[in-house]
Amino acid sequence: MPSVTRLQITPLAESFAAEVEGIDFSKPIDDNLFEEFRDAVHKYGVVIIRKTALDDDSAIALGRRFGELDSVRAHRLAGRAMRIPNDEIFDVGNLDDKNQVVTVKDPHRTASANGNALWHADGAFNPRRTGVSILRGVELPPKGTGGHTEYLDTRTAYDDLPEEKKKEIEDLVGCNSLFHNRKTANPDSPLFLDINPMDHPLAKHKIAQMHEPSGRMNLYVTSYTHHIDGMDLERGQGLIKEIFEHVQQDKYKFVHHWHENNDVAIWDNCAVLHRATHGEYEGKYRRDMRRVSVFDTGSTAYGENDVSTYWQQGLP
Ligand SMILES: [Fe+2]
Repeated sequence: MPSVTRLQITPLAESFAAEVEGIDFSKPIDDNLFEEFRDAVHKYGVVIIRKTALDDDSAIALGRRFGELDSVRAHRLAGRAMRIPNDEIFDVGNLDDKNQVVTVKDPHRTASANGNALWHADGAFNPRRTGVSILRGVELPPKGTGGHTEYLDTRTAYDDLPEEKKKEIEDLVGCNSLFHNRKTANPDSPLFLDINPMDHPLAKHKIAQMHEPSGRMNLYVTSYTHHIDGMDLERGQGLIKEIFEHVQQDKYKFVHHWHENNDVAIWDNCAVLHRATHGEYEGKYRRDMRRVSVFDTGSTAYGENDVSTYWQQGLP
């Protein structure tokens, strides 16, 4: 049953995810209402809001209320052509810098799309990980052509682990690499054949850690997690596989079907995993998706990484 406060919160799955109504994003949001909203994001892990009035600027402003924003500045400075002028907007749809639908003729974008279709937490491959992501469906493809977003409840998956497994993974640190995800997703692509993730900096984050806003433990094993720090490679990768398969069970999954332009999904990357899905729309219909990424504001945002040498993983 929906609970009624200033927000109307309707749970969408058994253990997580909710639809939220009751915020008019075309007007200023007072602190109390925002706190209630932020609490819902942290509690449910994924919050869906239908037909919002958010645009690029107000989505960025909303993101800033959650915390400091990540940006694409480094990529722009590296010379990558960008469709959207704003550094705080991650352009994650299927349109190129000329505003045309990406096709398989673009190997880089195709590789990224394949990578994002694997389960992940945004920013896990960076030393400072992402907390909240705000994803807006600015222009959706025709209904029935795919492009839904899927989520996993990694806190409940942690709760369900046997006590001895919780103990075993308590202090283990995962080494995360964007290259690992891309290689896995694109095994035949010449773009990654000669890349060994271990030749590049890896972001170290514990594979089980406290989600501070909810006080619940969370599993942080994703398609970026290449090996376990200090553990024999094969043994560590076996353990990663075991945990990763555990969290991917259907009982932990929620599927978000995008309905209308400007529907918004907000999730907490420290509490859920997500993935994009392939669909008929690819190479054919416009799917303009824009994300604002908020750095994790918790005490483990930088994981086990040396904060004095900040780096960000990027791809050609
Ligand atoms: Fe993502």
